[in-house]
Amino acid sequence: MLLLAIETSCDETAAAVVRDGREIISSVISSQIAIHAAYGGVVPEIASRKHLESISPVISQALQDAGVGMEDLEGVAVTRGPGLSGALLVGFSAAKAIAVALKIPFVGVHHIEGHLFATFLEQPVAFPFLALVVSGGHTHLYHVEGFGIYTTLGRTIDDAAGEAYDKCAKIMGMPYPGGVLIDRMAQSGNPEAIRLPRPLLRDGTLNFSFSGLKTAVLQQTMKNPVSIPGQAADDLCASFQEAVCHVLAAKTEAAIRQTGAARLVVAGGVACNSGLRLRMADLCKKLGVELSIPHPSLCGDNAAMLAVPGDYYLSHGHVSPLSLDVTATWDMDIIKESIT
Ligand code: KG4
Ligand code: ZN
Repeated sequence: MLLLAIETSCDETAAAVVRDGREIISSVISSQIAIHAAYGGVVPEIASRKHLESISPVISQALQDAGVGMEDLEGVAVTRGPGLSGALLVGFSAAKAIAVALKIPFVGVHHIEGHLFATFLEQPVAFPFLALVVSGGHTHLYHVEGFGIYTTLGRTIDDAAGEAYDKCAKIMGMPYPGGVLIDRMAQSGNPEAIRLPRPLLRDGTLNFSFSGLKTAVLQQTMKNPVSIPGQAADDLCASFQEAVCHVLAAKTEAAIRQTGAARLVVAGGVACNSGLRLRMADLCKKLGVELSIPHPSLCGDNAAMLAVPGDYYLSHGHVSPLSLDVTATWDMDIIKESIT
């Protein structure tokens, strides 16, 4: 099946042409980051307007890069939620319009479900597997038994890991989104320079909490202001990264031991993080678990990832009705009932 996939849940307008949920023929991502950086975060109203401006050119570019015409498409997969409602509506409406015009099916997909299966675009993973999804809005551990069959084992009770990265970067005076900058600076810093808390490390659950860590970084910078570039800033970044990666690895290890998982998938924008990738590789080596982390280009928001579950759903008859609406919040545990 030749699918067009569309993603507009936050600040990236993306479209991709993917064959059989496996082969990326083209993938176009138009980022709004430079626009939102001036405000220190994503401004929903601006995001919607920019998606409106970009959606048609981005889809045209994806088709052109793939060397296919609209008439070659056999289905459309699009992010239905969670995300910013106005932003989601742009991609969702475009997907519906294309489906109606071409008389082809469309399916609304959960954004995190896209992240979960991005790694399948490189190499499919056998079910069941454990998944750690770390993005700007999510820090979740899922037991994945198949497409649409997810059980949440643990989740953040406050900030997501990516959100913590971005907020700490902001506290230190870095532009939005600062996650990648902290990662870069951490590589020249001493991870043991500043002792930061490891929230919920021994609470006996698989949940996470990152808001206290952010407060600890704020207190640290008030006590000892850091200038960028500088060794003190690098040390703070390295210490913060160490605290985040330590907790993510410890909870993932506990989840592997609890479930007896033989395979681990790490996904989402924070899966680009160099420290986390190394930590997860060490953990999986120690436990004899097969690790799948997609190439960094597939970890952040993109449309191709949606084509993996999208292709599965459409080829199994799960077509979304045209009456379906976007949803700003959407629990992964109840995805099966709500896919159509
Ligand atoms: O999955 P994603 O692209 O969008 C959401 O669905 O949220 O994730 C974006 C998040 C941002 O918070 C960004 O700062 C973070 O991923 N991120 C990183 C790195 N690259 C992106 N965080 C830490 N280290 C990185 N290298
Ligand atoms: Zn995402």
